[in-house]
Amino acid sequence: MPGARWPEGGENKGIAADNLGKGTMGKEALSIVDQRTQAAYEIPIHDGTIRAMDLRQIKTGPEDFGLMSYDPAFMNTASCRSSITFIDGDKGILRYRGYPIEQLAEKCSFLEVAYLVLSGELPTEPQLKEWVADITHHTMLHETTKKFLEGFRHDAHPMGMLASTVAALSTVYPESREVLDPKVRALQIRRLIGKMPTIAAYTYRHSLGYPYVYPDNELSYTENFMNMLWKMVEPKYIANPVLARALDILFILHADHEQNCSANAMRSVGSSHADPFLATAAAAAALSGPLHGGANEEVLKMLDEIGSKDKVPAYIAKVKAGEFKLMGFGHRIYKNYDPRARIIKWAADKVFEVTGRNPKLEIALELERIALEDEYFIKRKLYPNVDFYSGIIYQAMGFQPAMLTVLFAIPRTVGWLAQWQEMLCDAEQKIARPRQVFTGQAARDFVPLEKRGVTAAPTAA
Ligand code: COA
Repeated sequence: MPGARWPEGGENKGIAADNLGKGTMGKEALSIVDQRTQAAYEIPIHDGTIRAMDLRQIKTGPEDFGLMSYDPAFMNTASCRSSITFIDGDKGILRYRGYPIEQLAEKCSFLEVAYLVLSGELPTEPQLKEWVADITHHTMLHETTKKFLEGFRHDAHPMGMLASTVAALSTVYPESREVLDPKVRALQIRRLIGKMPTIAAYTYRHSLGYPYVYPDNELSYTENFMNMLWKMVEPKYIANPVLARALDILFILHADHEQNCSANAMRSVGSSHADPFLATAAAAAALSGPLHGGANEEVLKMLDEIGSKDKVPAYIAKVKAGEFKLMGFGHRIYKNYDPRARIIKWAADKVFEVTGRNPKLEIALELERIALEDEYFIKRKLYPNVDFYSGIIYQAMGFQPAMLTVLFAIPRTVGWLAQWQEMLCDAEQKIARPRQVFTGQAARDFVPLEKRGVTAAPTAA
């Protein structure tokens, strides 16, 4: 199999039980007194974390199930141990495998970063050559997949087409179900990274009614993507090198972002040992929402709606009144300027030198200026996130707003796959299955239809 020298990476054996609680600073433990029973417990702390399962021993009696933690939306729950991406949201730091995002964006190609994210180390020169060749040789789609895409309506949203087509690849590669076989996994990883730009480009060509363009193996990852999007009748498509590099940088910035909504979907679906095409489709579905990857498209709609710089104060007033959110602002983890937004702002200048300035930039800069000085945003630590400027730059490069989340999904596939592989190699992980606090009816007897009256039952949701 090609790429055999590629390290497996992501091996995670979990914490050995006898290591729990043995911190480097003496005893690390949490003392708990249950006021219901006066019983005292000592819960080990490891890496600043207690294990929710250690709470289960806290019971009021033998019939009691035991204490659980309640954490809707995982606000304070670590669902895994991971060595892929580090974020310090307060300081605005993002690192892949220890390397600062700024250095990677400046010095690496996207496929080099993809190798790093997946394997844990930057590739040597021969490793990179082999890796790039592997990915390049997995860019073609089976012809039946092309036919599948043709079945979509001309106005189908590209994200719907992308997610469905990635799911459909599961039927083309049935061996991908062998998720515990590292060689099978390695092949599917290459297939997915190779084919995502092809599917993405085909969704675009489909919506315009243009013929599909086959991949060109002589081109780089991003140049080839641009070729499949925009080649018309010329014998060879030559991408503008500045735009191709900008796209490469944007892909680097989007490669992974630790346990976000779509990574969590990937891990959760993958934990049932569903194949990686189906799990990636689930992750793409999670990404499509406007609170996640769909935000970049929403930012462009918002800038259109605002229309001009002078209308920004009135728009901000409505945001503060709670009428709607300022799209592209705020983040669950970053309580500081998103470092990716800073790099995108820098890359935008390079792109605009080629394409001319996107008029929406004026409005965005004014929004940022006013918001960063406003008490409402300061108090809530709301800063521009990755989506605030990415839409503007993508639009200047010629992408339609509906394609923006698809552009996010292509590079994020790398992160999803790294998270998926890490989860499968983690001896502590099992099928993801949260608990609930049941708030429904206690047991009651069935009531026949004729005895239910006319108004008692609520309308089904
Ligand atoms: N515009 C205005 N107010 C915002 C806001 C925004 N973009 N994002 C958060 N807030 C406000 C909330 O209304 C809330 O105010 P309150 O305390 O008065 O109720 C407070 O800030 C905390 O927000 P909350 O929704 O609890 O944060 P969260 O961590 O659950 O949500 C996001 C994070 C990203 C979902 C949220 O900031 C958001 O919806 N942003 C816009 C969409 C976006 O850009 N998504 C892309 C993320 S990369």
